[in-house]
Amino acid sequence: MRVSVVGCGYLGAVHAACMAELGHEVVGIDVDAAKIEMLASGKPPFFEPGLPELLTSAMASGRLTFTTDISEAAGATVHFVAVGTPQLGDSNAADLRYVDAAVDALLPHLAAGDLVVGKSTVPVGTAARLADVVAASGSGATLAWNPEFLREGFAVKDTLTPDRLVYGIGQDDASAEAALDGVYASALAGGTPKVVTDYATAELVKVAANAFLATKISFINAMAEVAEATGADVTQLADAIGYDARIGRRFLNAGLGFGGGCLPKDIRAFMARAEELGVDQALSFLREVDSINLRRRERMVDLATEVVGGDLRGKNIAVLGLAFKPDSDDVRDSPALDVAIRLAELGAHVIATDPEAVETSRRRYPDADYVTTAEEAVKGADAVLLLTEWKQYRELDPEAVGALVERRAIVDGRNCLDPAAWRGAGWTYRALGRP
Ligand code: UDX
Repeated sequence: MRVSVVGCGYLGAVHAACMAELGHEVVGIDVDAAKIEMLASGKPPFFEPGLPELLTSAMASGRLTFTTDISEAAGATVHFVAVGTPQLGDSNAADLRYVDAAVDALLPHLAAGDLVVGKSTVPVGTAARLADVVAASGSGATLAWNPEFLREGFAVKDTLTPDRLVYGIGQDDASAEAALDGVYASALAGGTPKVVTDYATAELVKVAANAFLATKISFINAMAEVAEATGADVTQLADAIGYDARIGRRFLNAGLGFGGGCLPKDIRAFMARAEELGVDQALSFLREVDSINLRRRERMVDLATEVVGGDLRGKNIAVLGLAFKPDSDDVRDSPALDVAIRLAELGAHVIATDPEAVETSRRRYPDADYVTTAEEAVKGADAVLLLTEWKQYRELDPEAVGALVERRAIVDGRNCLDPAAWRGAGWTYRALGRP
């Protein structure tokens, strides 16, 4: 099939490459010329495992091209809209200007029978509004909403073999389902479940899923707060409740909490939309989910202050990890970078490192001392803070690190180290939710 993908960020670039991998003929379109230039030379403008290889092979096959020229969408029959919906500067609501602009830009290039497919995460009601816009254009095209559930770090796998497909389609638009079935033929043949529904349900599926995941993380972090007050161990508590299949152990890792380009802004936009709809009470728990999450960052700063003796000023603090999670260079709403900035603002000398996120962090916060390796970061440190659980940090040797620091004090912000091993090597070991 001929497919266009408008918006080549994390979502769109991966989607475009994966669609080409599945055999479709794909044009990726973005207004950002620098981004398109990088993608066209086979280099993703962000870190995502497996994506460079996929881009190279898809472009070599001749099935994937990138352009800034929206008119090249003409000729494709399915047009994915994968632009960002960031949080508005002055409220919790989502900024829909990029989605609106993408659909408007597509309109002159649509032909009868084409399908515009929204993938961006939007407030419920957006798809119905945009369906009217497409209908009013007189092109004969229609619109569907097909939310994306990919996780950064696993984006390629999640796109090629999703755990479910959700189609929100307009009334009596049988051709929309057929077109999407064509796009996703290989996943469907592999047994991926499909839910065909209306626009509102499809839009809500996405935000409900993210709200549930955020709630699960904040639930265990609330238990961490109680554990801290009682001397209990939240990691063992998570293991124990996680054996109940109804609860499950996944997404019950207590620590510094969630960040990234999705969960924080999606739960806030969901609350903002609920308020507009007059059902804000239904989602008032999400305010608590957000607060619990943000309190973990404060607690981390408190623990760092404690292990250096009560005053951060002039102390060398090694920060290991800046990305919002491992296998990503994304620092949008990153708890790790946020903590690093707070420590610096409190007068600490922060020496920060991350395998992939130093450059993205530097762009957001140029004032920290960034280094390339953990060894450089910990040299002469009064305390070491593990804030993103990259594999190379989880595997650090307490003796080897101990030989480099000024004082053997570590705060494990992700509960990913073995406390016995670190204490055994003479370290003061502190963690979130553990004695
Ligand atoms: C998320 C959803 O998982 C995905 O389905 C959706 O499409 C986009 O948003 P992503 O932002 O890539 O994906 O990250 P995810 O793996 O969900 O992690 C989110 C945050 O939660 C990270 O900061 C991570 O460190 C944190 N987290 C995750 C925890 O603190 N504890 C956990 O147990 C799991």
